[in-house]
Amino acid sequence: MSNQTKNSNSERKTFPRPGRGRGPMGHGMAPGGEKATDFKGTMTKLIEYLGAYKRSIVMVMIIAISSTVFAIAGPKILGNATTKLFEGVMDQIRGGTDGIDFTYIGNIILITLGLYLLSSLFSYIQGWIMSGISADIAYKFRRDIANKINRMPLKYFDGTSQGEVLSRITNDVDTVNTTLNQSLSQIITSAVTVVGVLIMMFSISWQMTLLALLIMPLSMVVVMLVIKQSQKYFKQQQDYLGHVNGHVEEMYGGHMVMKAFNGEEESVRKFNTFNDTLYSSAWKSQFLSGLMMPVMRFIGNLGYVAVSILGGWLAIRGTITVGDIQAFIQYVRSFTQPITQLANISNIFQQTAAAAERVFEFLDEDEEVAETENPITLEKVIGQVEFKNVRFGYDSNEPVINDFSAVAKPGQKIAIVGPTGAGKTTMVKLLMRFYDVDAGEILIDGHDIRNFKRSDLRGMFAMVLQDTWLYNDTIMENIRYGRGSATDEDVIKAAKAAHVDHFVRTLPDGYNLELNEEASNVSQGQKQLLTIARAILADPDLLILDEATSSVDTRTELMIQKAMDALMQGRTSFIIAHRLSTIRNADLILVMNEGDIVETGSHEELLELDGFYSEIYYSQFEKPIEV
Ligand SMILES: Nc1ncnc2c1ncn2[C@@H]1O[C@H](COP(=O)(O)OP(=O)(O)OP(=O)(O)O)[C@@H](O)[C@H]1O
Ligand SMILES: [Mg+2]
Repeated sequence: MSNQTKNSNSERKTFPRPGRGRGPMGHGMAPGGEKATDFKGTMTKLIEYLGAYKRSIVMVMIIAISSTVFAIAGPKILGNATTKLFEGVMDQIRGGTDGIDFTYIGNIILITLGLYLLSSLFSYIQGWIMSGISADIAYKFRRDIANKINRMPLKYFDGTSQGEVLSRITNDVDTVNTTLNQSLSQIITSAVTVVGVLIMMFSISWQMTLLALLIMPLSMVVVMLVIKQSQKYFKQQQDYLGHVNGHVEEMYGGHMVMKAFNGEEESVRKFNTFNDTLYSSAWKSQFLSGLMMPVMRFIGNLGYVAVSILGGWLAIRGTITVGDIQAFIQYVRSFTQPITQLANISNIFQQTAAAAERVFEFLDEDEEVAETENPITLEKVIGQVEFKNVRFGYDSNEPVINDFSAVAKPGQKIAIVGPTGAGKTTMVKLLMRFYDVDAGEILIDGHDIRNFKRSDLRGMFAMVLQDTWLYNDTIMENIRYGRGSATDEDVIKAAKAAHVDHFVRTLPDGYNLELNEEASNVSQGQKQLLTIARAILADPDLLILDEATSSVDTRTELMIQKAMDALMQGRTSFIIAHRLSTIRNADLILVMNEGDIVETGSHEELLELDGFYSEIYYSQFEKPIEV
């Protein structure tokens, strides 16, 4: 299971899923991080994904092998030059006349240079291809996830925090990207290096090789000990990084509220505890992992000394040349690194698998109910909407709507009223088919909405929702979202109708003002007006207004009312409002309570009835005021 279960998201959001949470902010990768629950299955899938790059991967392998072989050959050949040089010098000392064979040495140096150049070039090409492959896979993952998000039922997002989804698109895909890039080429080069170097070493001197190999386990043991210790702190560091991130996100996301409740002291105190633990685990893990290299170098150096002594002795006995000793020492030096890399590769694979598993898991989630085989397309939407014994619950055991039946005739203005939590917004969500009904049906012009393509169905509506949604772009584009093809003039016309034009013009950049991410640089009411302008621009067949003007002052509301009445003229509209003044002129008012329609009728009829509606109404207006 994930070691990050207890991080910001899963702690904070309402529906934590065990073992899934990962902070929206990336944490560094610690060795031996998380483990995939199904390592084999995930790897098989990943390899399937890689299958598309078979040829490139084979090429990478060949190039990586060549590059490594060239690099391995280097020291041995260069050793010949040293030997020649040594022989030449010795010859001169002995008073010989042969001198140093500089042409030979020169040639060798040129050859070695060529080999090293080739090796670098190959490793460059290899890295280039491999980065391409892993970036491509990351790209495909992101694309698949993005497409998948659009096919997911909204139910999924009720139970999964945004952070988790976000984390899949960013962290996990990133991890797959980097680790794939690293591990695939590393495993090839490391393996080839180990084998190649061993062969070279044995070919030089088996005695020296055995001695070098004896020292190897010693350094491995020490490294393992250090890794084990540091891993504990790495894990702690990662956990607390999650806590710190989560805390900052929580506190500064709700900065104002936190201040309003005088929560600074408590917040700072909590932050300090997290931060202290993070500090101590971070320095311990860093210190320990920093310790690894010096320790390994020390043991390695002991090895050199031993190998050099043995080499010297062998050279004196004439069984080995000086150049070979030099080459050998170089081989010993290049031997430890690939071994540690190989040891680490299982960790990297675990990380890849863990990240890839989360990505695959998401891609395998159940999708929205498939579209019908033969969707209906309406030439013209007349606007008859009928709810027939609709039953629905977000959780199928807990019905929110029990038995809802109503008919909206074409062009009618239907109001849905009722107390908070009655199920008004839920009805709208069902109408737009964000959720499917559990029983009963919803008909538009006599056709079950499940017989339309979702996009066609949603295309018939424009809606202004309770939660305004604006995005990080200019005001102009935010309004244009209602109808992509609209000209600037159309946008401004719609804004005028929504009575937001005047406000926009007072802004420094007018329609070109960039809204920030949370659109917090405009007021709540202004946001609503902008979304109303968007709906006006969309000019739909059917209109849904859910508390569209709840944050707008009464005077402005009255003014928009006219625009909205004009907009609603001739098209079926659903209006949800708590302020009953806005819906008095509705053709039909559905009064909801606890998931059922308790009363229906026009405003006058309902007042006459003197029931639930009139109770709500008179709680807002003095009884004597007649309409
Ligand atoms: N995504 C959801 N998952 C689970 N339950 C939900 C979800 N959305 C709403 N509910 C529940 O369904 C019931 C009806 O909610 P709904 O949003 O339809 O109320 P409403 O009539 O629009 O209320 P309000 O006037 O406050 O907007 C409530 O009890 C609510 O807790
Ligand atoms: Mg609502």
